[in-house]
Amino acid sequence: MTLIKLPQQPQILRKEKVLLTGGTGFVASHVLDSLVTNGYPVVVTVRSEEKGRRLLHALSSFTAPNQIQYAIVPDISTKNVFDPILCDHGPFTYVIHTASPYQLSFADPVADCLNPAINGTTSLLDSLHRLCPSVTRVVITSSSAAILNPPHHRDVYDESSWSEVTWEQAMQPEHTYRASKKFAEQAAWSFLRDNSPGFTVATINNTYTFGPLSRSLINSSRFSSAEINTSNRRIWDLVHGKWRNADGSANIPPTAPVFTFVDVRDVADAHVAALTAPGQRYYTVGGFFSNYQIAKVVEEEFKGVLGARGVLPDLKGQQDDFEEDKHWKFDVRRSKEELGIRYRGLRESVRDAVGSMLEFEKGVTALS
Ligand SMILES: NC(=O)c1ccc[n+]([C@@H]2O[C@H](COP(=O)([O-])OP(=O)(O)OC[C@H]3O[C@@H](n4cnc5c(N)ncnc54)[C@H](OP(=O)(O)O)[C@@H]3O)[C@@H](O)[C@H]2O)c1
Repeated sequence: MTLIKLPQQPQILRKEKVLLTGGTGFVASHVLDSLVTNGYPVVVTVRSEEKGRRLLHALSSFTAPNQIQYAIVPDISTKNVFDPILCDHGPFTYVIHTASPYQLSFADPVADCLNPAINGTTSLLDSLHRLCPSVTRVVITSSSAAILNPPHHRDVYDESSWSEVTWEQAMQPEHTYRASKKFAEQAAWSFLRDNSPGFTVATINNTYTFGPLSRSLINSSRFSSAEINTSNRRIWDLVHGKWRNADGSANIPPTAPVFTFVDVRDVADAHVAALTAPGQRYYTVGGFFSNYQIAKVVEEEFKGVLGARGVLPDLKGQQDDFEEDKHWKFDVRRSKEELGIRYRGLRESVRDAVGSMLEFEKGVTALS
């Protein structure tokens, strides 16, 4: 039995072709599933031939013939890097830009994170503006990091809010990633204002995202745990005994600073719905979470298999560090009303994330 739902092979392919950047990523993998199910032909950018082949292999059983192609973009921050792809693989009607560095630390904040995030976005928009009159909509994966304003939180966040993080703060490791998302999104809206291209833009401002692993990792014999995406890593750590002391007692890390999550499949559906929705920001949040609540769900859902492995922490006497009555709130009505998103809950998201990790490990063992 597979725990990860496969997309359905479409009966008829649509005419509108989609360019999807960052195709090997966690979010992009699910965007691709949603595009496939909805019958879009897609050209996916990946950083190497090997990654492209792996991606096609992972998708081959449920895509229509020639529905997916890949093109190589080693580094999105290289000027005009998208030009040949637009010329060789177009015409495109839609573009979804997910590629951006997402890690917790960077050796060089500017070269490794801020430049690819910001210049990668503006260079893509510039190439589309110059070379692709057929494109009507560009959907950009931004982040709740471009909305939230710690430590001076609003009572309720929605799409009207902008992070006030500065370029100077971006040089400090704890602020680099969130600043990259704010500056990249601002650069996109400025590009639109300054150049009046033939396309409009929508952004998906998803919060901390959990859910089934990237499809191209499943059954990969070349797996390294370094490939687990940043936001699922805490669930991976729990499943691998890192929240448990040698005596079995719990060693649960603090949840702060982020206590909101969204399921990656809802984020993916939001991207695809945003291809034809009004061009604006969409804040996407499924609910609140804490590390204690994740551990509780995993204990309840996987006591058998993970209990037997001796990796789960003993939760007796543990405190939940999330206090809803003291926490700021979120308003995601726009994503529900205009994109039709019905958010999955924490249990489903965590259960399916862990299910995919177990399934994935079986594949690795079988192949190695
Ligand atoms: N996951 C979350 O909690 C979350 C929340 C809010 C927003 N987001 C946004 O969602 C998007 C995808 O994130 P993710 O969680 O899916 O992370 P991910 O799995 O690390 O995916 C990032 C993708 O971007 C590609 N990439 C990074 N730097 C690049 C560069 N310089 N040139 C070319 N490609 C590059 C990566 O390629 P390689 O893997 O080959 O390096 C990968 O395909 C990002 O824009 C991120 O900011 C994520």
